[in-house]
Amino acid sequence: MARKNRSKKKSRFTREGADRYELYEGSVYDPDADHDFLVKVYRSTRKRRPILLREDFAGTSKLSALWVENHRETKAWAVDFDPEPLEWGRKKHIMPLGEKAKRVTQIEEDVLKVKTPKVDVLTAFNFSYWIFKERATMLDYFKKVYKTLDKDGMFVVDIMGGPGVQQECEEPREEDGGFAYIWEQEMMDAITGHVNCHIHFEFEDGTEYRNAFDYSWRVWTITELRDIMLEAGFEITQTYWEGTDKDGDGDGVFKKKKNAENEETWIAYLVAWKNKP
Ligand SMILES: C[S@@+](CC[C@H](N)C(=O)[O-])C[C@H]1O[C@@H](n2cnc3c(N)ncnc32)[C@H](O)[C@@H]1O
Repeated sequence: MARKNRSKKKSRFTREGADRYELYEGSVYDPDADHDFLVKVYRSTRKRRPILLREDFAGTSKLSALWVENHRETKAWAVDFDPEPLEWGRKKHIMPLGEKAKRVTQIEEDVLKVKTPKVDVLTAFNFSYWIFKERATMLDYFKKVYKTLDKDGMFVVDIMGGPGVQQECEEPREEDGGFAYIWEQEMMDAITGHVNCHIHFEFEDGTEYRNAFDYSWRVWTITELRDIMLEAGFEITQTYWEGTDKDGDGDGVFKKKKNAENEETWIAYLVAWKNKP
């Protein structure tokens, strides 16, 4: 297994007492980049800052916390049906905000059932909406999102694709702090498009946290999702594609594109506007 040089400092991470949300946030999740993307795209399109956010599949609600931290008028609703990550995030990200914490509302509910006020921006990140495996369910969800958006509203999801997404893999990546993050994808079912994925962690002392997170998804494509978004009522959909650095790796800069090369694996943002900008 290829490994980067490890820090000489002894890692505090080991399987015993490992906190899977801390490990997840230390490896997979970068809501700062999501936050900046949302504000930039909305502002450049609508010529004003977005104020109200609903974060679906919010987990630890870190994006919502960041949203209210960064602007004095903003409000966020963080929706997840699992009380465990919500509570973890309440303590870790929301309570430390002090007065600003009042502007985040966490809701323990299914995103298909939840009711919230209308918002400027609604997100479903880290591919969580792939939990919906039937087109009819995805359409139902997108219609509900559409209704929850203000007339200038923007819905944003992330998506991954490319031939690599249809293949089995188990990829370790060394993280700061002395642990490895491992993304495992089982063989995709060629007929249903269903795939089981897992996140594992490995520690310097040789212990492991297998199946810290498990996901049962359907692999969706941009074209399928755009068609469903348009059917749900959205007037425009846009794809923001990630650029590459000199080594051909993603550079974290996403630009609006109409066509793109189907690289081995890629990630993109899919943006749907309720009404034509
Ligand atoms: C991959 S995590 C995403 C956490 C975080 N938003 C992120 O981007 O990393 C998926 C989350 O979606 C939640 N979830 C899955 N299906 C849901 C549903 N139908 N309604 C509400 N939450 C759901 C799970 O409880 C889990 O916390």
